[in-house]
Amino acid sequence: MPTRIVGLRAANREECELSADPDPPVTERARREQATAAVAAARAEILQRAAAALPTDEADALAARLDRYGRDAALPLAWLYGDREDYQALVARLLRAVVDAAAARPHELRRLDRRREIDPEWFLRETMVGYVCYADRFAGDLDGVRERVGYLEELGVRYLHLMPLLAARDGEDDGGYAVVDFDRVDPRLGSNDDLEALAGDLHERDMALCVDLVINHTAAEHAWAERAKAGDPYYQAFYLTFPDRTLPDAYERTVPETFPDTAPGNFTWSPELSRWVWTTFYPFQWDLDHSNPEVFAALLDVMLRTANRGVDVLRLDAVRCLWKRLGTTCENLPEAHWLLQAWRGLTRIATPGVVFKAEAIVGPDQLVQYLGAHDQEQPECELAYHNQLMVMSWSAVASRDARLPTVALDRLADPPRGTGWVTYVRCHDDIGWAVDDADAATLGLSGFAHRRFLAEFYAGQIPGSFARGAMYQDDPRTGDARTSGMAAALAGLTQAREVGDPLLLDQAVRRLLLLHAIAYGWGGLPLLWMGDEIAMGNDDAWWQDPVAGDDNRWMHRPHMDWVAAQRRHREGSVEHRVFSSIAGLAAARRRTPELHAIGPTRPVWTDNPKVLAWRREHPRFGTLLGLANVDDADQSVDAGILDVVRAWDPVDVLDDDRPVPVVDGRIPVPRLSARWVVAP
Ligand code: GLC
Repeated sequence: MPTRIVGLRAANREECELSADPDPPVTERARREQATAAVAAARAEILQRAAAALPTDEADALAARLDRYGRDAALPLAWLYGDREDYQALVARLLRAVVDAAAARPHELRRLDRRREIDPEWFLRETMVGYVCYADRFAGDLDGVRERVGYLEELGVRYLHLMPLLAARDGEDDGGYAVVDFDRVDPRLGSNDDLEALAGDLHERDMALCVDLVINHTAAEHAWAERAKAGDPYYQAFYLTFPDRTLPDAYERTVPETFPDTAPGNFTWSPELSRWVWTTFYPFQWDLDHSNPEVFAALLDVMLRTANRGVDVLRLDAVRCLWKRLGTTCENLPEAHWLLQAWRGLTRIATPGVVFKAEAIVGPDQLVQYLGAHDQEQPECELAYHNQLMVMSWSAVASRDARLPTVALDRLADPPRGTGWVTYVRCHDDIGWAVDDADAATLGLSGFAHRRFLAEFYAGQIPGSFARGAMYQDDPRTGDARTSGMAAALAGLTQAREVGDPLLLDQAVRRLLLLHAIAYGWGGLPLLWMGDEIAMGNDDAWWQDPVAGDDNRWMHRPHMDWVAAQRRHREGSVEHRVFSSIAGLAAARRRTPELHAIGPTRPVWTDNPKVLAWRREHPRFGTLLGLANVDDADQSVDAGILDVVRAWDPVDVLDDDRPVPVVDGRIPVPRLSARWVVAP
């Protein structure tokens, strides 16, 4: 483990690495002892503080959590900052902040905490289904969202993820990911009180609220950045800045560009600072320097305050980029994981009902680590996006071939117990074609060619393509391109409507529903992206919106079409068919405890390359066999595959629990449709 860099400002780090270092590396055991000692040193004071601020039962519970999670937090902090003389003082200070947050936690949230401590896998239940939207685009503002909760309930939604809602900069704000004030709801959406009221409403209906926390960067107009610009050295040390191009140029040799097209490079000149600032994303988003423990502490406060407003799930944005080191891609470094582990341990002590969701859209080999699966498991985030499943589902329906998904998904490690994937068909971001070269090579494919095929296919540039998306960040230097577009547009609905062909329309609807049946049936917490439930197409006027700049991801971030949503009640309409089927998937989940996201999901090879199959194993309720025909024609698989569910006469949950038909030793799987097979 790279121990010599800890506790040093990242900008200076490489100079230290170059200097001869005679010290032997610090061992895991030594760090553990250091962590244990730090917690022990602080314990008496912390318990006293808790006893003074909390009722006895709450103080007792906090003491138990300190003993349970204290070292979970202190150990990664030791790796991060343990070479500093003030490490112990830092641990004590962070724990004091934790007690203060616990004391400030409203009574209703403590009650929720208690329930969730008894049922720590509450967010993994088969009853969970999530919905993701921008508050303003969905319902005007937070009050509007409160009025629409009934609509979400119709869809079986139990988890609402509202896109960034903290005060963002004026003008272009990267969809709210350029935050100027972590402590205030964006006034365009409402107030902090409105947020708390919404959270309260949701909790009353046994629903959870997820909110974005952007911890990699702030807007260039955030108070911290403003004070840095005004010359305050304390806040200057919050950001990664450089006097000239020497180091930025050195970093650029290995760090990829996130927006090569619209915001090339990773550094931006700040005339106010007279320095180059690290800006992984847009020039107006300044990366924070997490090697500075003051930044760590400030973000911990943000997390705790947000949790105390009633937010149940913190979606931690862009976590892959939290740490930088010269000569690397500055992605997925061990320190990024330690930061998450430390924040997680500390928040657990104060707000035990709150979970972390990692936004780490990274390659298949790096994904599961964000759920804590390292050489030795480390509690980290409880949820992470199953980017591979999303990419592979689209790959399967484009190429009408389930083999690559089977290879790629089989290679993925299982989430550690108590954690799970969020599964999804689309989100507010582009689809980055994370096809691994080695996976593709297994099937004799070129990874590069397949990625390019997908980008061109979904941009509608390939003859026979049903998609009407667009390329995103097409980089002529690397040939890499990603995809923008609403799920319905990518699945063929827009094309079918253009052509006016009812057969194509039927196929497109089936494809859209099939993708949802995979996401809802894979095992995990499925997320439904706003508008997909009524098959909304792209926003063709996205570029007229001043907030969009030239970022075509806005084509798939439309305003909710409530007129179309009304048609969900009209039989025969596309909206009715899609809405009722997606609501039906949520209902099917509720009666399928096999889908509780505990235990592993593994793809299963079938004798038919057009059918994706997977087994979802629940230790108590048995196994679910998923079958998804990604082809436009009817297919079948050998009925021997039913052995997976280990039962006579298995039934298909998606076919109203009817027995699974077997014809001549084969299970028919109609074109572009899925089965969820379980024991009767
Ligand atoms: C995440 C968000 C994305 C945003 C980026 C920078 O990846 O999902 O929309 O552009 O972070 O904040």
